[in-house]
Amino acid sequence: MWLAALDAGPVAIATLSVAEREHLGGLTSERARRRYGRTRTVLRGLLGSSLGVAPATVALAVATDGKPRLAGGGDPDVRFNLSHAGDLLAIAVAEGCEVGVDVEPLAARRQVLDGTLTATERARLDALPPERRTAEFLRGWTRKEAYLKGVGCGIRVPLDQLDLAPARAGHRPTALPPALAAEGDWTVVDLPLADDHVGAVAVPGSAPRVVVRRWVG
Ligand SMILES: CC(C)(COP(=O)(O)OP(=O)(O)OC[C@H]1O[C@@H](n2cnc3c(N)ncnc32)[C@H](O)[C@@H]1OP(=O)(O)O)[C@@H](O)C(=O)NCCC(=O)NCCS
Repeated sequence: MWLAALDAGPVAIATLSVAEREHLGGLTSERARRRYGRTRTVLRGLLGSSLGVAPATVALAVATDGKPRLAGGGDPDVRFNLSHAGDLLAIAVAEGCEVGVDVEPLAARRQVLDGTLTATERARLDALPPERRTAEFLRGWTRKEAYLKGVGCGIRVPLDQLDLAPARAGHRPTALPPALAAEGDWTVVDLPLADDHVGAVAVPGSAPRVVVRRWVG
């Protein structure tokens, strides 16, 4: 797991693809341009160093499910996923398995959203002191989104059919929407972030090894 600042740090336009530069040129606000350019700069830097190639030569594509991936010729063992929220960019890079990540600013949610929790999750949340519920709801939200980005479908399934229950190494699905019934075993691990953000990373298996680092450059 790599964490980087979005609003600070270099943007290396020269490493972006033609399509990315065109996309950048179409963005109307300076802030959106900076954040897009920064995201792609860090993503290309990271993938380039994982693959042992120059950032500009990393070929990116979007799968039919909407999940960005390395394009055809890329190393099939290297997978990635990313999330941006507030000033934080989080990029997960995995070897030999899929991965999903989500981060949110704690200020993003002031109330629990109906229709996003199973009855068991709701009971678990209601058992907490009221002042802890919103933050814990947001943590649970990032776990679900990390998992759904890991499997590639995003928030296209009913969230109240997905139950992520506490387990030894993080949280694991104990109930799944029918569309995801064939997904194997996954574990979702909370990310150790500063006080103003929460986030989670999802990886297949029951004992993931997650290393969190800060990207400088
Ligand atoms: C795509 C989606 C996961 C983005 O979530 P978000 O919290 O707004 O944004 P995040 O910053 O966490 O993630 C965005 C990144 O997720 C990645 N992403 C997009 N679709 C994805 C998918 N299907 N699976 C995994 N990752 C995906 C992209 O890298 C994207 O960043 P980029 O556009 O800069 O490349 C979410 O909007 C979604 O599930 N959309 C599809 C369903 C939908 O439109 N539902 C509408 C009701 S919310």
